[in-house]
Amino acid sequence: MININRERGLRFLYLDAGHMAEHLYLLATAYGFGACALGGAYDREVEKWIGIDGLQETLLYGVVVG
Ligand SMILES: Cc1cc2nc3c(=O)[nH]c(=O)nc-3n(C[C@H](O)[C@H](O)[C@H](O)COP(=O)(O)O)c2cc1C
Repeated sequence: MININRERGLRFLYLDAGHMAEHLYLLATAYGFGACALGGAYDREVEKWIGIDGLQETLLYGVVVG
């Protein structure tokens, strides 16, 4: 059976990730930096690097700024 709230939460997760990335692009640009979205990464390596377990918290969307 489909849990509507759970489905909606999952949908919002992706929408919010997009919103946050867009804000990061705008902020980086305003401060004179470049930003670049990166979806392809070695997930486990990045998870270890930022200290998340990949289960309760996982890599969703990366943006590099510099
Ligand atoms: C969600 C998302 C994920 C992306 N992931 C990658 C990626 O893993 N590798 C990559 O080379 N470009 C990725 N891109 C594209 C880059 O962010 C960038 O737009 C592209 O490299 C072109 O940059 P340029 O116009 O400055 O050359 C991704 C873009 C988006 C929106």
